Amino acid sequence: MFTFLLVMPIVNLWGKNFEIDKKMKNIYKPELASVTKVIEETEDIKTIRIKHDSNPKPGQFYEVSVMGIGEAPFGSASYSSEYVDLTIRAVGNLTNKLMNVKQGENLAVRGPYGNGFPMEKFKGKDIVIIGGGTGVAPVRTVIEYIEINREDYGEVDLFFGFRSPEEFLFKYDFDKWKEIFKFNITIDKPYEGWEGNVGFLNALLEKSEISPENKIVILVGPPIMIKVTVESLEKMGFSDDQIYVSLERMMQCGVGKCGHCMVGDKYVCKDGPVFCYETVKGMVD
Ligand SMILES: Cc1cc2nc3c(=O)[nH]c(=O)nc-3n(C[C@H](O)[C@H](O)[C@H](O)COP(=O)(O)OP(=O)(O)OC[C@H]3O[C@@H](n4cnc5c(N)ncnc54)[C@H](O)[C@@H]3O)c2cc1C
Ligand code: FES
Repeated sequence: MFTFLLVMPIVNLWGKNFEIDKKMKNIYKPELASVTKVIEETEDIKTIRIKHDSNPKPGQFYEVSVMGIGEAPFGSASYSSEYVDLTIRAVGNLTNKLMNVKQGENLAVRGPYGNGFPMEKFKGKDIVIIGGGTGVAPVRTVIEYIEINREDYGEVDLFFGFRSPEEFLFKYDFDKWKEIFKFNITIDKPYEGWEGNVGFLNALLEKSEISPENKIVILVGPPIMIKVTVESLEKMGFSDDQIYVSLERMMQCGVGKCGHCMVGDKYVCKDGPVFCYETVKGMVD
């Protein structure tokens, strides 16, 4: 009898724990999403469209995995409740494998993660959107969001910078964007047949003489581009609290558990990847 009384609560406790375990969701478990379209953007960049109803906020990202290879974060390049576009550059093992994905196949995906751009907070503001190279992919979500909620925002200026016309992403969207927004584009070096602007993005921005009044800047690109563009913006009179950047850091869990992505005291995966420049200044320079 004594043994029974002693053992009962333990059994109950185990039973309870077992129930909790059964209900607990494995946050690292990816789900399969079918690939509905693959667009070859450049020689080494593809946009893979997956059927997904997660409706990410502009600036959020997904962890995409390939069995036996690994997992990596990719920002959403679209704003839709039906699909997610992932625009991926082949740089290593996983991304090269992803270049072989075909329409009709499945992709293992978890997310969306991260905070995204605070679009509600930007209501009533003019928006300057600056994207360099693959940085144009995450800003496309912002552009598509504004297209849908056009009346909530003032003037929108787009500034895109690419190494050459061969590197252009989303060429098929350019005509539409030119109609709705002020569209500025530049390439790094002269290129045969190119009659547009040549030079770095920050120089084009300075030439535009945009006034900082009532503006918010969304800035995504490689670290060096962020650095020089912020310097130009400051020269033009913009303050750090008007500038929002999306940071790329090495990640593992993507959900604030492993600490791999930390910049100062911030988890880029959970507190970011979008930060007001004021809060990360000095940590990203
Ligand atoms: C929030 C977030 C969003 C991202 N969105 C995109 C996207 O939309 N499109 C895209 O092509 N890539 C994106 N990346 C980068 C992408 O995750 C890496 O390119 C990918 O992990 C490379 O994996 P791999 O196995 O192919 O290459 P690896 O063999 O792991 O690495 C190849 C090279 O890329 C470098 N690298 C790997 N990961 C990163 C990283 N996170 N930041 C900087 N350098 C890195 C490595 O140092 C190495 O030089 C994003 C990263 C983050 C953190
Ligand atoms: S990637 Fe693990 S804590 Fe951010």
